[in-house]
Amino acid sequence: MSDSAESTPSATFRTTDVIRKKRDGQELSRAEIAHLVDGYTRGEIPDYQISAWLMAAVVRGLTRTETAALTDAMLHSGQVLDLSEFAAPRVDKHSTGGVGDKTSLVLAPLAAAGGLVVPMISGRGLGHTGGTLDKLESIPGFRVDLSISRFREVLRECGCAMIGQTAEIAPADRKLYALRDVTGTVESPFLICASIMSKKLAEGIDALVLDVKTGSGAFMKTEQDAAFLAELMVETGERMGKKMVALITSMDEPLGHSVGNALEVKECIRILLGSGPADLRELCLELGAWMLHLGGRADTVAQGKQIAAKLIDSGQALEKFRRMVELQGGDPRAIDDPTRLPNSSYLLEVVSPKTGYVSAIQCEDVGTACAILGGGREKKEDSIDPAVGIVLHKRVGDRVAEGEPLCTLHYNSDARAAQAKQMLERSYEIAEASPPPVPLIRKIIPGGSV
Ligand code: URA
Repeated sequence: MSDSAESTPSATFRTTDVIRKKRDGQELSRAEIAHLVDGYTRGEIPDYQISAWLMAAVVRGLTRTETAALTDAMLHSGQVLDLSEFAAPRVDKHSTGGVGDKTSLVLAPLAAAGGLVVPMISGRGLGHTGGTLDKLESIPGFRVDLSISRFREVLRECGCAMIGQTAEIAPADRKLYALRDVTGTVESPFLICASIMSKKLAEGIDALVLDVKTGSGAFMKTEQDAAFLAELMVETGERMGKKMVALITSMDEPLGHSVGNALEVKECIRILLGSGPADLRELCLELGAWMLHLGGRADTVAQGKQIAAKLIDSGQALEKFRRMVELQGGDPRAIDDPTRLPNSSYLLEVVSPKTGYVSAIQCEDVGTACAILGGGREKKEDSIDPAVGIVLHKRVGDRVAEGEPLCTLHYNSDARAAQAKQMLERSYEIAEASPPPVPLIRKIIPGGSV
């Protein structure tokens, strides 16, 4: 490290000098990184300076020491929860973000039904990917901004609670995450690691299952980049004494059939009822199995998978979900009758231009099309339309006839629908032959203590 030894946390820095230093590819000291994070969290450093630094960090990269310093500064921007009052193991799962990636809504109640405590702190939609908080807020009345004391009460009552970063927990990430979303500074393994791990380490958990996405709809497009990020996060978690595992999973097409906030909640309810798309169920069972295994509720992952399937098929996981929704102010009737969730006013089909097989779907474009419809944000102040989105009828490997629907847009604005339709028409590739199948779970990276 170049100069961290000379720098002290009390030293004052000129923000422009710190930005220039990163721009020129030099390593920042722990104190310089703390200066940026603390100054931004307190509102003393403006968005434009942090945006410039973020871009320099994306382009130049961060060293392991800088990444650790950034994670620590973000973690200590708020409080670190002490959940030792709970006898049961505290376990969470986090995904690096994808399209149609909705497993958290199934896994928090599933793991709680399996006897774990799941204190889940999630994010909003980022770039082309959806966010758990935006999905949950499509349930009428559901509140993600609980105080820490209410968060504890919900955990005591039902074993799981799902909230966003509050002013108390990792507030630096809340601000940085929103800024990165609109400044093209999401795709950096170092920034993603610090963002995810600062939130997760603040939760007071014992173990963490990471779902690191790879493919055309993920921030990490190649398996190699995903493995790099996974190892970075596993290492960061282990350094803080947590049991860790990362699963590298495919995001070459949307997960499940639905993309869009309320549409995805509806799909999760189907999974919790024991139906729903096979890929989504499979991933929920696998991630749930790892949560149960790391939390000591299953001796092996295979046994964890059987337990997870039983928790869904017996209705116990759904019951937990209903209870959590109720405790967080949501209307539980929407769980029993999903037509009570927001519905768009109009539907529009996108049809296949020819007969053949779906050989690829540009997954990022599907996420962007959903954002164009109003399901995601362009600017951090933008509000979300919870009802809009896309339902895929054809997935990679499916046979399709000319004129047959590939997907349906759920929309509320003609202009937005026209733009999203064009994007979706381009995102589907139709070929004469079916492509070779790609496994959903590509690789598992367990921490040393697992
Ligand atoms: N999810 C997060 O919480 N942070 C990121 O930076 C990316 C995905």
